[in-house]
Amino acid sequence: MSDTRSRPSCRTRTLIAGAATLLLGGALAAGCRSDARPDVHRPLTLEEQRGQAVFAAQCAQCHYADRRSALHGPGLRGVFRRPYLPSGAPANDDRVRATIEHGRGMMPPFGEALNDQQMRDLLAYLHTL
Ligand code: HEC
Repeated sequence: MSDTRSRPSCRTRTLIAGAATLLLGGALAAGCRSDARPDVHRPLTLEEQRGQAVFAAQCAQCHYADRRSALHGPGLRGVFRRPYLPSGAPANDDRVRATIEHGRGMMPPFGEALNDQQMRDLLAYLHTL
């Protein structure tokens, strides 16, 4: 009998402990700065994470994401936080999408390699740089 009586309160305690763990975990994640993006103080969304993977596979061999200095192409840190792209074109989604689709100078085109979803994910990620 004492067993049945203690069950509800035990479950309540478990719920409270679980909620506390979630809150603490969220607070730790929000304050976590272990990644190399000092200007973005939040974890990447799922969309941005997928875009990061596209970047790693398709772009990282020519572009740094975390600095502005050039590798084979210009560093893309802060690419959407400045008014103009390195070429002088306005830094907006349309221009960057067109560059990715059609290429530019020594940069190859990716219009065939990326589907719409991957392009959207990639642009979302570029906005976090
Ligand atoms: C083989 C190397 C290479 C790869 C791979 C590459 N790029 Fe580039 N990228 C370049 C070069 C070189 C330039 C400079 C082009 C120029 O202005 O002549 C450039 C320029 C750019 C620019 C600036 C355009 C402007 O108007 O100034 C952006 C944005 C960009 N690349 C994004 C990307 C993204 C996103 C990817 C991955 C889908 C990618 N690049 C893949 C070489 C590359």
